Amino acid sequence: MKFQTSTKLQIPRGTDDIMPGEVEQWQWIEQKAREICSLYDYHEIRTPMFEHTELFQRGVGEATDIVEKEMYTFTDRGNRQISLRPEGTAGVVRSFVEKKVFGQPQPTKWYYMGPMFRYENPQAGRRRQFHQFGVEAFGSPDPLLDAEVIALGMHYFQALGLKDVRVEVNTLGDVESRLQYREKLIAYFEKHIDELSAEAKSRLYKNPLRILDSKDERTKEIAAGAPSLHDHLNDDSRKHFDTVLRALDLLGVPYVVNHRLVRGLDYYTHTAFEYTVDIPGAQAGSIGGGGRYNGLIEQFGGPSMPGVGFGIGLERVLLALGAQQVETPSKAGLDCYLITMGEEAKLVGMKVLQTMRQAGLRAERDYLDRKMKAQFKAADRLQAKTVAILGEDELKQNQINVKQLATGEQVTIALDQLVAYIKQLT
Ligand code: HAM
Repeated sequence: MKFQTSTKLQIPRGTDDIMPGEVEQWQWIEQKAREICSLYDYHEIRTPMFEHTELFQRGVGEATDIVEKEMYTFTDRGNRQISLRPEGTAGVVRSFVEKKVFGQPQPTKWYYMGPMFRYENPQAGRRRQFHQFGVEAFGSPDPLLDAEVIALGMHYFQALGLKDVRVEVNTLGDVESRLQYREKLIAYFEKHIDELSAEAKSRLYKNPLRILDSKDERTKEIAAGAPSLHDHLNDDSRKHFDTVLRALDLLGVPYVVNHRLVRGLDYYTHTAFEYTVDIPGAQAGSIGGGGRYNGLIEQFGGPSMPGVGFGIGLERVLLALGAQQVETPSKAGLDCYLITMGEEAKLVGMKVLQTMRQAGLRAERDYLDRKMKAQFKAADRLQAKTVAILGEDELKQNQINVKQLATGEQVTIALDQLVAYIKQLT
């Protein structure tokens, strides 16, 4: 039979198979995230991978790149408009509102991990299916909670052994400050309207803040002269930001204030931040980002309640770990590889193998009728600590031969002693 691969049978662009051998790294970084979250009392929530499209339109924002250009949207068989989630916050906030968790004692601290979907131009660290680890804390306006969230992310990077992660922080002010600033910004850009890029023009009345992080050279120059939001902050907004920065100082979190940081999602108020690290070969230096969103819960039909959180891109975390050559734990080898010789030993070996596994030992055997030498090779390949050899003679006497592969030391023991013997070696 000729094996042909049509492109339809290949993996979709921008997605990845995470293969055995790689998946151990994923399990390790996921495990670390769980450990850190438990230290800070964040609890896992799992929401669906798709939601009604409207949720993201209203939450993430109509005029954002994510909603305008990057969503995987389709009509389902019941004629509903559905989108694969491009990010985690909207779904988690929906759940908080829908399950009326706002009625319980606050704050509510949740975390999540899983695949997200954005139709982007794929490259290293920019995928169409990617994975985020995120946290969201609801129900408290305290700036110290912003600091906790930022510090939690840094603690995570530190626990992984990732170095030189920087935090850029900014404040977008509260709704009042932002509205005032918005007017000023529109007035300023209107004066330069003919020189703005087409994209900036289209954003002028929908989302003028986004013009500040435009990639177009001329627009960037114009944006550099734009009024600063910091000059338009009201007292509350200024005080909130100052406290966040003071807390970060106290916690020793190295940050820089970046007045141009606006982020690509509409829901932020007050604090916005990004974690960055150099990843050679990858254009995207942001391994995570987040901020406070004090209007979102209300916008989704809940009470007026604040929230703050972040999302960290796990593909980028792994790229950064690789670039810094951080040793991640590799797959653990076997406790025992069972070699059998002869028909009867082959069959009885099944029982011996099962006994080891039931006792909590990692054990494997040959299923391809290999010769003894080849079975030893397999034991090496699978990094077995010991090899147990069951031949016709041993079987007759209810014994088994055990060899430690590191030292070559070999003993013959009673078959029913096998588990205890291997356990005392490990
Ligand atoms: P975001 O900045 O859109 O924020 O994404 C967070 C992180 O996800 C990015 O910093 C990046 O590491 C990763 N990421 C985004 N797009 C891709 C992609 N195409 N391929 C690989 N990695 C990617 C959010 O998603 C907000 N929900 C964060 C948040 C939570 N804010 C408050 N709470």
